[in-house]
Amino acid sequence: DGSLLAPTPPMGWMTWNYFADKFNETDIREMADAMVSSGMVKAGYNYLFIDDGWQGGRDNRNNIIPDPKKFPSGIKALADYVHSKGLKLGIYSDAAPLTCGGYTASLNFEEQDAKTFASWGIDYLKYDYCGAPDDMEIAKTRYKKMADALRNSGRDIVLGICEWGGRKPWLWGGQVGGQLWRTTGDVRDKWRSIKPVKTLKDLDTEGAGILDIVDFSQDYASYAGPGHWNDMDMLVVGLYGKKGPSGDFGGVGCTDAEYQSQMSLWSIMNSPLAASNDVRNMNAETKRILLNDEVIAINQDALGKQAVCKIKNDTWSVFVKPLANGDYAIAIVNRSETTQKSKINFAELGLNETYEIKDLWAHKVIGKGKKWSGMVQRHETKMFRLKKI
Ligand code: GLA
Repeated sequence: DGSLLAPTPPMGWMTWNYFADKFNETDIREMADAMVSSGMVKAGYNYLFIDDGWQGGRDNRNNIIPDPKKFPSGIKALADYVHSKGLKLGIYSDAAPLTCGGYTASLNFEEQDAKTFASWGIDYLKYDYCGAPDDMEIAKTRYKKMADALRNSGRDIVLGICEWGGRKPWLWGGQVGGQLWRTTGDVRDKWRSIKPVKTLKDLDTEGAGILDIVDFSQDYASYAGPGHWNDMDMLVVGLYGKKGPSGDFGGVGCTDAEYQSQMSLWSIMNSPLAASNDVRNMNAETKRILLNDEVIAINQDALGKQAVCKIKNDTWSVFVKPLANGDYAIAIVNRSETTQKSKINFAELGLNETYEIKDLWAHKVIGKGKKWSGMVQRHETKMFRLKKI
């Protein structure tokens, strides 16, 4: 039934933020090589997700085809290459006649396109909702149709639902056969919207930043679990507001503390981890953040419980996530504009034992006890693993 296709949140690298629709098969091969040489694959980022812009229309039998200029060797050859590197390949389509970028999409061709994707060796489909009606029942029907088609395609293909949260996919995404669903619109390469955000409509024209996405996604923790995940959109870690071939990272850039926060929060909230920076050119800080195996282990923990927000005020958000071996992960976010001293009794979080405290960004055990206090920089997130002693 597809529920075991994503026992833990999928991890990988996605084309969109860096390339938008300006990429070709050489770029994808280079990224696959860089994912291996940089240690990304070893750390668990084992999907390469091709986003919008690969399509070249349909042939005279209505089979969807790649753009022959961008993919002269075809997608099958690319999938073979990517698989030979120990990676899986994701692709993109949309539940309407055209995608968000105006390319050929899959409405009314679900069975045929799913079979085509399977024949190419595709392992994952991001299925978008541009050009489709703002109606929950129609969304359910269209996503179920593609989910069924993928299940009948003869290949295990993960379905990522991408309708940005407007039609409440956490309520039905798993039932119709999706393994994950976006909870919000696109994350931008910035910390937060300029105005305080209470509803999605309050976001400034540039869209949601890291903290906005966290605030919108934290209410849906109970809907996530093995095989069905809340997708908070791509990691923007390492973009630094620079423009790639896409010319649009959609943001002003973040500090390393803010990128560390995104990695911490996406991990503790069990979001898929899809990096979107140029993995061929990563500085030491970007590698430190993306390749932190102890933080990744929290995201990939077998229990699959999304963290719950236990404290939220103008200065702090504090999250708690139970882990398979009985430990807890906690994340303490400084939401304010200045360095703050955190003094936290674990009992305030419902954790009433005495714990050994491991700092997952410092990579060391920093003490034992029932509380922690320390300085947290502006927009920084501390992440600890607590082991009962
Ligand atoms: C939508 C999605 C993005 C990306 C683009 C592609 O905006 O939310 O993640 O896939 O479409 O056009």
